Amino acid sequence: MTSNRWLLFFLLLRITLANRDVFRLLQDKPMPRNGNPKAPLQVHFGFYVESLGNFRATEMTYDMDMYLYMSWQDDSMRHNETEHVLVNDKDILDKIWLPDLYFANARTAYFHKVTVHNFNMFISPQGTISYGTRVTLNLACNLDLKDYPLDYQTCYIKVISYAHVKNEMNVSWFPNDPIRFNPEIDLPEFHIRALDKDYCNGVFLYTLTHNSSRVGEFSCLLGMLKLKRAIGFHLVQSYIPTGLIVAISWVSFWIDRRAVPARVSLSFTTLLTLSTQGNGIRYALPAVSYAKAIDYFYGVCMLFIFGVLLEFAAVNSYMRRANKYNHMAEKIQSAYGGKPIIAADYDSDYEEGPTKYYGNLNKNSAHLMYKALKFSRKALSIDKAARFAFPCVFAIFNVFYWLYYLREPPLMD
Ligand SMILES: *[C@@H]1O[C@H](CO)[C@@H](O)[C@H](O)[C@H]1NC(C)=O
Ligand SMILES: *[C@@H]1O[C@H](CO)[C@@H](O)[C@H](O)[C@H]1NC(C)=O
Ligand SMILES: *[C@@H]1O[C@H](CO)[C@@H](O)[C@H](O)[C@H]1NC(C)=O
Repeated sequence: MTSNRWLLFFLLLRITLANRDVFRLLQDKPMPRNGNPKAPLQVHFGFYVESLGNFRATEMTYDMDMYLYMSWQDDSMRHNETEHVLVNDKDILDKIWLPDLYFANARTAYFHKVTVHNFNMFISPQGTISYGTRVTLNLACNLDLKDYPLDYQTCYIKVISYAHVKNEMNVSWFPNDPIRFNPEIDLPEFHIRALDKDYCNGVFLYTLTHNSSRVGEFSCLLGMLKLKRAIGFHLVQSYIPTGLIVAISWVSFWIDRRAVPARVSLSFTTLLTLSTQGNGIRYALPAVSYAKAIDYFYGVCMLFIFGVLLEFAAVNSYMRRANKYNHMAEKIQSAYGGKPIIAADYDSDYEEGPTKYYGNLNKNSAHLMYKALKFSRKALSIDKAARFAFPCVFAIFNVFYWLYYLREPPLMD
């Protein structure tokens, strides 16, 4: 009996001792409440972007190297020096309470430790602490590629306290210029339009036990990096070559409509060139399920070249009929007798009409020749219309395409 009681006593003692240890540890580095446990601790935040880059469209991430600045009040840090006190030793820093802010959309992040831990901390005589450190982040940025490569992107930088709700810790941006960036940042792919600040304060849910959870309202800071893709590369690399390929396919309308192999092979060559061009652009892009602006352009160019092929099919069908009637006319004419007085060369530039001319014509053959001439003229008129229509429709398409995609979204939203 007594041994059991002793056991119970020891157990209770151990629990209370353990509890006291935890609370003693907590008191080692308490969150500064500055004499008013009800009021939230005001933490101010800001950063300076030193460098930016490495946008990977397939992974939808980018890297950002920044100097972080934070400031808060800790009454226990008041001192009697006339100047700010500088803390620049990692061991001392480890003993000081720091806001538990983290980057919610960072995949990875690290501090710089060469040659020493990169940070500084100033403590004013009133106990205001300013802490600065350098971090490199790999941030997620969801790219909407619908307008690619004429797109505008907004990448976010989200800063939230991990454990403290808003009533304990109120995080806000510095009042003046909280986000600044190095003016020398020059991205190969993007122009920086703006780097704005906003808040994303919200209610987040966190689990307590297997069937209960708690909701807390957290302060959340939102940095917005607004980017515009540089068009130059894509203009030279995709749009102009594609447009030229389409223009080359129109040469077909000026080639003799009897030259079937020349016109067919020209259309097919341009079609193939276009599809290899299109493969190049898809390289280094994620396989998104929607069509991008460049896909529409390629699609329409493809349709235009396909249209050239169809136009030739129509021309060729008229020409075959013309040839048929011509042959019939020649057969009748040779049965009727009489030799052609002119035999036009097949490859000649002569635009229309039969290839042979007779001094005196049979009535039936004249009728057939007239029919042949009519079909041949029809084929020519299709070619002539196409010479005008294709460039015009392509120009109209371009006007609408560029008007639609070059509109700039407002900077503020
Ligand atoms: C600062 O000076 C005041 C008055 O001179 C004194 O009461 C206080 O203890 C000093 N504080 C520290 C941290 O030395
Ligand atoms: C939090 O900080 C902001 C900006 O400094 C201030 O406007 C707001 O009143 C603060 N909220 C609380 C609960 O202290
Ligand atoms: C959670 O589960 C415990 C027992 O597992 C039960 O006693 C309690 O009522 C449950 N709470 C809620 C909110 O369902």
